[in-house]
Amino acid sequence: MIKIAIVGFGTVGQGFAELLERKREEIERTIGKFRVVAIADSKSSISGDFSIGDAIKMKRERRRLRDDGRAEEIIEELDFDVLVEATYTKLDGGDGLDYIRKALKKGSHVITSNKGPLVADFRGLMSLAERNGVKLMYEATVGGAMPVIKLARRYLAFCEIEGVRGILNGTCNYILSRMEEERLPYEQILNEAQELGIAEADPTYDVEGIDAAAKLVIIANTIGVDAKFEDVERIGIEKITPEAFSVAREKGYTIRLIAEVSKRALRVSPRLVPLSHPLAIKGTMNAAMFKTDTAGNIFVAGRGAGKEETASAMLSDLYDIYAGN
Ligand code: HSE
Repeated sequence: MIKIAIVGFGTVGQGFAELLERKREEIERTIGKFRVVAIADSKSSISGDFSIGDAIKMKRERRRLRDDGRAEEIIEELDFDVLVEATYTKLDGGDGLDYIRKALKKGSHVITSNKGPLVADFRGLMSLAERNGVKLMYEATVGGAMPVIKLARRYLAFCEIEGVRGILNGTCNYILSRMEEERLPYEQILNEAQELGIAEADPTYDVEGIDAAAKLVIIANTIGVDAKFEDVERIGIEKITPEAFSVAREKGYTIRLIAEVSKRALRVSPRLVPLSHPLAIKGTMNAAMFKTDTAGNIFVAGRGAGKEETASAMLSDLYDIYAGN
């Protein structure tokens, strides 16, 4: 029986729990029986005798769970095999960093959707996982449902990844592609992106390129570039005007916020992209182009945010831990 503990029970944590329940039969057929043994958020928790359905209902109706211990107590004291860490991103790592360290130290696998801990201490966490013989999985931190991390780590094994260029923030891409089509100013479109629920709680994280830079740091470290957040050259989209798109279009280009890592570059900035290029993708989509020595260019695209999309990436991590080998 695989015992799963979940910390962080907002949109992502609930989305993951719902998907576990919905796909229970298929998951159990593939990786074996599982049970969620505890769920904690910042104010409440539940452990012992409960079902996923109970916890979701409780959280929706009362906005809290029971009081069965604080998240750190649950991580330190309860017996579980996998910690699902879905707390909110703080670039200094926040509580999530502490939760992940504690779980790895006690020999539990970790699946996280939280960029903060990886941006704060990628190398430290990876070596902690290795020393303890467990896996730290983080597909959901970059590009939501779009498979980037396992693509780099597993499917492009023995390729030299010479560089990656990507669209890693759905909010900016939505704003830029609407600006391209309707020539509206960015503030007006940002409100609509917030209504769609894809913008960060503080949308300056999106429009200033902070969210994309955090994801770029994670990709960079995954492909062996020892990058820190401060190393990323970063320009956001706040200064782009609708008129810039008219000038670009005359020459056959559009404008996208491109995150790039290579031997020479580590940057997030608005760039001209040929209208026919795959990275001229529209709407809330994310995309990434990997340049390799032996596999040529590999392009992936997909939904970079959303409850179910993020949960699907976390479920693929669970698969990878138990059946991926
Ligand atoms: N605010 C992010 C985006 C969500 O717009 O892509 C996923 O990290």
